[in-house]
Amino acid sequence: TVYADRLTASKIVAKRIAAIITAKAAKSENTVLGLATGVTPIAVYQELVRLHREEGLSFKNVITFNLDEYYPMQPTAIQSYKAFMLDHLFSHVDIDMANVHVPDGRLDVEEIAEYCLAYEQKISALGGLDLQILGIGRTGHIGFNEPGSAPNSGTRLVSLDDLTRNDAAHDFGGKSNVPAKAITMGIGTIFKAREIILMAWGIKKAPILKKAVEGEISADVPATYLQLSDQVEFIVDQAAASEL
Ligand code: GLP
Repeated sequence: TVYADRLTASKIVAKRIAAIITAKAAKSENTVLGLATGVTPIAVYQELVRLHREEGLSFKNVITFNLDEYYPMQPTAIQSYKAFMLDHLFSHVDIDMANVHVPDGRLDVEEIAEYCLAYEQKISALGGLDLQILGIGRTGHIGFNEPGSAPNSGTRLVSLDDLTRNDAAHDFGGKSNVPAKAITMGIGTIFKAREIILMAWGIKKAPILKKAVEGEISADVPATYLQLSDQVEFIVDQAAASEL
């Protein structure tokens, strides 16, 4: 779905999220959300905060799982995805922080496999993700599933692509400070969500969006796997859609 601009589109996505939360809360059920970081979802989170402040949207029944985190990474570091989420959403709404899950970038390497399995199991035990929101990286990654990721991949430690580290260099004051690795939900984890929304804004995303939507399905562009799912909607602005 193509919207004129990112703000209009972000408000629609926030409304969808709010509708799920409200409908499930009315049945005394929890909403399990898969959340993303990056510039792309910021306006969605802003709108959710506004809906909380001005229209009484409560996050008391919301449980969240973030897609990914750099590794190694201290959660208190300003570049951490944990800090990003606190800054843009969690600090401004009434969510119970015990219901918030962001992959832990502090683990010892030998602890990671077990931790990742437990992350998957927690999501399953709660009945799975009601909705997963995604951005897209210029390598075609979703979460940090870089080219080469398998369609059935689970949560795991991955190496970041050179282009991804270039794109993150600004946040870290230079590429050499960008962690080489990350912990990410897998393509398989994302696919288990009942609904998936991938968002892309701006002209810089146009070439990769074209590949993701119209290109051959291939591990070279992991976002192309989304073409295989009926539960996916691409929500984009006119600039990102300009090459479609
Ligand atoms: C990072 C995140 C992705 C995100 C991508 C795009 O690599 N791990 O989840 O989709 O960047 O970022 P942005 O939204 O800033 O363009």
